[in-house]
Amino acid sequence: MNAPLLSVRDLTVEFRVPDGRTVHAVSGISFDMERGETLGLVGESGCGKSSAARALMQLPPPTGGEVWFQGTDLAAQSGAALRRLRPQLQMIFQDPIASLNPRHDVADIVAAPLRVNRRLPRAEIGARVEAMLEAVGLDPALALDRRPHEFSGGQCQRISIARALILEPSLLICDEPVSALDVSVQAQILNLLREMKARMGLTMLFISHDLAVVKNVSDRVAVMYLGRICELAPSEALYRAPAHPYTAALMSAIPVPDPTQPVRQVKLAASDLPSPMDPPSGCRFRTRCPRAEARCAADMPQPREIAPGHQVACHFPLIG
Ligand SMILES: Nc1ncnc2c1ncn2[C@@H]1O[C@H](COP(=O)(O)OP(=O)(O)OP(=O)(O)O)[C@@H](O)[C@H]1O
Ligand code: SF4
Ligand SMILES: [Mg+2]
Repeated sequence: MNAPLLSVRDLTVEFRVPDGRTVHAVSGISFDMERGETLGLVGESGCGKSSAARALMQLPPPTGGEVWFQGTDLAAQSGAALRRLRPQLQMIFQDPIASLNPRHDVADIVAAPLRVNRRLPRAEIGARVEAMLEAVGLDPALALDRRPHEFSGGQCQRISIARALILEPSLLICDEPVSALDVSVQAQILNLLREMKARMGLTMLFISHDLAVVKNVSDRVAVMYLGRICELAPSEALYRAPAHPYTAALMSAIPVPDPTQPVRQVKLAASDLPSPMDPPSGCRFRTRCPRAEARCAADMPQPREIAPGHQVACHFPLIG
């Protein structure tokens, strides 16, 4: 079997806040990404998804752990070595308008990564920018000399995708790329990401708080709770039979499209989420878990495999 494109080991991200306390945003997560796969990363707001994504990019570097990308530990690299590798890893963000420089036109925005990272003649840069705009569904003749505020949110996200893909990266990290868009536009952008992934052979980390969105795009899904991964499995297995009580609770919040089915209740209230400054001992989900027992407060559950490729970190999983 080929080596994974990315191997993350024990990734930890902590922030010191002015009152001297520590935010435990990401607490020792590990996973691999195979070439060409889409891995979904899902969890409630504040569980550490963006902190983990930024730490993979070394923006800023993690507090601890290893990020092996194509055989190199990014977390151990100097500035110059990182700059050489960074074009291979690109990211798109939730707020498409805010992530584009309002003073630059589309031609400059999409060309900027090429100008910084490649020595190419002007005409070659222009041709590549036009081809990339066409690939993401924008007419270069109409788009090139306009600025971001002249476009809709969906069109801005297309521009962000063009900018991220112009360097032909291996890994694309999408941090809530459709959360700010209308539902009809969400589907278009998800289709575009799927199409570009297939065309360019991308490996994708797809982050969302919405399990229904993640389900549609991901080959495998990692479920994160308060800085830790509690379950990681092929999408189909995870949705058919979740093993972690938190995954099951998240799934009960997905609307049921069939009107003959009873409406399932949302069981997770954001107000019940413990603070990442003072996370619960043992299993971090224990304060909200209907299956919690004394052992859950004493011992931190370690990830273990309950079926091929299906890992769960729980002392009393729903299956296995
Ligand atoms: N620079 C920072 N300084 C202090 N705390 C931070 C910083 N960045 C993030 N945090 C905290 O770290 C925790 C994880 O935040 P993060 O943004 O990674 O979560 P998230 O899962 O991406 O949430 P969302 O779904 O809202 O985007 C949160 O409690 C957040 O307040
Ligand atoms: S370890 Fe215990 S508290 Fe945590 S999810 Fe499993 S049963 Fe619930
Ligand atoms: Mg986030």
